Amino acid sequence: MIGIFDSGVGGLTVLRALREELPSADVVYFGDTKNAPYGERSREELSALTVAGLRLLQERGAERIVSACNSVSASLAVSLYDAFSLRHDQLIEMVGPTVSFFRGTTMRLAVCATPATVRSDIYGSAFRMIGKDVHSIAIPELAGAVESGAPEAEIKKIISGAFGGEKSFDVLILGCTHYPFASDVFRDVLGSSVTLFDPAEEVAQRAQKQFWPQEAGNGGTRFIISKDSERFRALAEELLPDEEYSVEVLE
Ligand code: DGL
Repeated sequence: MIGIFDSGVGGLTVLRALREELPSADVVYFGDTKNAPYGERSREELSALTVAGLRLLQERGAERIVSACNSVSASLAVSLYDAFSLRHDQLIEMVGPTVSFFRGTTMRLAVCATPATVRSDIYGSAFRMIGKDVHSIAIPELAGAVESGAPEAEIKKIISGAFGGEKSFDVLILGCTHYPFASDVFRDVLGSSVTLFDPAEEVAQRAQKQFWPQEAGNGGTRFIISKDSERFRALAEELLPDEEYSVEVLE
């Protein structure tokens, strides 16, 4: 079984892409709706939440993990592999597949993400390893606004505020899995000269390569959320209209 981990609704964008690549995989998804948003939390808090989330997924039978939360990647210490007896091929996170996609490109790149992800410099350091610069832009409050279903005008104000007049890049990487829900607003604010890149597809393709055929199953989906959320239920329905799934609420 594949475990997907996110603070809340963001990982649904990754699950949707994963379903294209691995339709028969059984998936257990943990959305930590009680503690979302993660992106303004300290590294220590994120480490503790990551440990708890991974433990829960393993207890529920996940043998392979997609960490669909960039803010969590920022706290994924190497020692976690040992703590959870995971091999490297059993864990996929968002940053590696994204950076590998842009290897060799001459385009000017920017990544927008939560304050925790930007502060960790996880994209910056990974891109430097392939000799590329990436401009990082933190967008405080956007993941929380998407998580709670804030009105579009509010989302637009947050995104416009983060960019100001700054548009000196060709590609904007959506370095938070909540952000694809606001793609239309990003396009509106940035105009057509900037291409948006959602890493979900690359991550799903990586999962297909790494997890197939071991993860051939019945295509079942089970959601676990730490606090009930109408918004989560509505987006799951919207993104996976043809799927049968169960939702378990921990609290
Ligand atoms: N979707 C997550 C990410 O990719 C977490 C966002 C948040 O909860 O702040 O960073």
